[in-house]
Amino acid sequence: MKFCSEHHIVANRLTWLSRAVLLAFVAAMAICLARPIAANDEAKQAAQIRLGARLFKEDRFASRKGDLITSCAHCHQSNENAEKPHAFTDSFTRSWVPWRAGDPRREGVRNAPTLLDVTALPRLHFDGEFASLEELVKGTLAGRNDGWLPGEEDEARRQVYQVILEDQGGVTYARQFNEAYGVALNTLSADEVMSLIGKAVTAYVRTLRSAQNSPYDRFVQANGLDARPAAGESAAAFGQRLLARIADLESRGALKLSPDFSAEALDGMKLFLRSDGERRGNCVTCHAPPLFTDASFHNLGVSESEYDQVHGEGRFAALRIPDSADAVRPSRNTRETPIESKPERVDLGYWNYVELGDATLRRAGESDDRFLQRMIATFKTPTLRNLNYSRPYMHNGAYPSLESALGELIRLSRRARAGRVRAADDELAKIELSESDIHPLIAFLNTLNEDLKTRPLTAVR
Ligand code: HEC
Ligand code: HEC
Repeated sequence: MKFCSEHHIVANRLTWLSRAVLLAFVAAMAICLARPIAANDEAKQAAQIRLGARLFKEDRFASRKGDLITSCAHCHQSNENAEKPHAFTDSFTRSWVPWRAGDPRREGVRNAPTLLDVTALPRLHFDGEFASLEELVKGTLAGRNDGWLPGEEDEARRQVYQVILEDQGGVTYARQFNEAYGVALNTLSADEVMSLIGKAVTAYVRTLRSAQNSPYDRFVQANGLDARPAAGESAAAFGQRLLARIADLESRGALKLSPDFSAEALDGMKLFLRSDGERRGNCVTCHAPPLFTDASFHNLGVSESEYDQVHGEGRFAALRIPDSADAVRPSRNTRETPIESKPERVDLGYWNYVELGDATLRRAGESDDRFLQRMIATFKTPTLRNLNYSRPYMHNGAYPSLESALGELIRLSRRARAGRVRAADDELAKIELSESDIHPLIAFLNTLNEDLKTRPLTAVR
């Protein structure tokens, strides 16, 4: 018995020992295996970004029936020309698209916005046309920007597929797709290739970020200010809180300015943050730090202003816009540049794409019609970082300088207060500034520019 129990204990010890050894072995194996897997993942990710960067510049996808060679990089230029860096935009009022006899136009519908920080936004394009970057890439490569007309989508996809499949010389796409996604290109369908293109370009665009090391960012850091609203805090309340904190530092003589964040910039910042009292910009309400956008849609009257310049004062207000039951959305006429001979052409922005069930924008108890009316001529709030590298401004690029854009904003806010902007955003009328506030505001906006002349905007060339 005794022997047995001793033996039992020994056996038990042995099992414990072997269990511990086994456990250590399994742990060691897991670490050994995880390392190459992580390294492998990293290598794949890097390959995806490299592939995306190449596709971004690929100029063989555009329709050969158009008269322009184009690629993403043609309209979204970066700082390779260090003398004139762009924040992934072009300099045109509205981007140039390939000319086609079936749609004789030189200009697209909108101004090209920056791509920096764009992956933080839930919807893309000024009118929210796309809900993901993958969809945007697929749509763009088969769309008007690449010289294709409606109905030519299959032809576009076939051409893209051919370019990828038949690529020769140097590092081929076949090799790059294999490194990035572990696929054999010649076993994939045109649709599958298109999907992977969407993924790769997305992986690349995700790397395009503002560095957030502008004079403004350094000012915030030097003074221990919060860089973003707290969880659940509205942007306007955040603005008020920052103002109080700045006033407190100033009263104690402890606020730190610098040569690149001047007293004038500080004055502009206060206008930017103020949403009540005199000299209020109310800007922070829509342009919330740290990206200076709320990623939402608002009508500032910019579309109305352009329409009335073409057709005459008050014509936009009188324009018949169908209600929710009759509206064809999107439609060619409602996402177009106004021209004199065709008064039905107008740009109604997000009105074209908003879903009537949209829970974030629709107010409780609001009818379909009321909601859709409120969406007339709304456009996505752009970021205000790096404006120095993305002029001209607004969805229609109609404002060549910040001075002209802010002058218009002040004019439109006065019109809105007088009830003369159709379907204006409620926040527009709350802007109360005078022309003398433009310069301090510009001084502040200039502190949001990073040094794109020396910083490599993308790690991939
Ligand atoms: C012919 C010029 C042109 C080409 C080519 C082009 N874009 Fe654009 N891009 C624009 C314009 C103009 C807009 C704004 C469109 C709008 O808001 O209606 C835009 C908008 C975007 C946006 C949304 C930005 C935002 O803030 O919502 C992204 C992302 C983008 N483009 C990426 C790409 C990629 C990726 C490609 C290549 C597959 C590409 N673009 C090709 C001109 C172009
Ligand atoms: C109600 C929301 C709202 C308020 C308030 C607001 N903005 Fe904007 N801002 C927008 C939207 C939306 C656009 C794009 C409008 C368009 O293109 O039709 C825009 C465009 C701009 C642009 C052009 C940027 C570009 O890249 O084209 C600048 C500059 C700007 N706003 C600065 C300001 C300043 C300064 C204030 C305060 C005085 C302010 N905004 C107040 C929503 C707002």
